[in-house]
Amino acid sequence: MSSSQKRVVAVCKDGEEVAERLREYLQQKYDEFAKRNDGDKKFLLGLSGGSLPKFFSAAVAAMATSSSSVDWRRVRFFFCDERVVPFTSDDSTYKVYHEVLVGKVEGIGEDSFMVINPTLSAEEAAQDYSRKLAALSGQPGGAPPRLDVLLLGMGPDGHTCSLFPGHPVLRERELLVAPVKDSPKPPPLRVTLTLPVLNAAAAAVFVCTGSGKKEVVRAVLEEDGCSLPAAMVRPCNGELVWLLDAPAAAALNKA
Ligand code: 6PG
Repeated sequence: MSSSQKRVVAVCKDGEEVAERLREYLQQKYDEFAKRNDGDKKFLLGLSGGSLPKFFSAAVAAMATSSSSVDWRRVRFFFCDERVVPFTSDDSTYKVYHEVLVGKVEGIGEDSFMVINPTLSAEEAAQDYSRKLAALSGQPGGAPPRLDVLLLGMGPDGHTCSLFPGHPVLRERELLVAPVKDSPKPPPLRVTLTLPVLNAAAAAVFVCTGSGKKEVVRAVLEEDGCSLPAAMVRPCNGELVWLLDAPAAAALNKA
């Protein structure tokens, strides 16, 4: 990786330590943001689904009990991928985060989230979300915005967001947000950030736990030229952080 591409792999003893390391990292990134930005500029934080909400809500809860300086009113959440389902559906990632954060953390309300329009088709929802993301980031003309922190998961097949192995969407270089209508991980209809957006970020953080991931973690972190989607996330001028628990790191050859 070039000098501007920094990769950190942290192996934690368990999920509790993963959440603590996530808390530390988010606090550090927010503090850096607050130092260099005054006024109403928002800290743009991308969320993924799956097991990530569990770790993120634990990190936020720990911030609330400590003397954290995070002013959540200055944070805008968006989705690194989202299922195109009603917000009332248990498949909605927004629903999961709404339940654990809205009305529970000072400064986090429904207006903290940039949500998709689930009444649209996947194609239209992707176009709509692209416009919203460009506006949120103040990035004119469709160039990939520089988002502050992306929180990502990785499936046992090496997918991340809704970017699945071998899927044509991996070759998308123009759209900021793309539709996926055949997700092998249900539900099938989704929108996802594309690789140009992921790799324009200031920081991408993978949170990956469990022995079921150990082989794919080894492949992604140690196989040169690995073409799995998670291995293709390498921010061009940003930080790449992997937070692993010991079972997920068990097949790694290098510490
Ligand atoms: C989704 C997620 C997805 C998730 C991975 C890992 O909405 O399905 O964004 O990309 O991050 O599937 O999920 P787990 O952490 O639950 O294994």
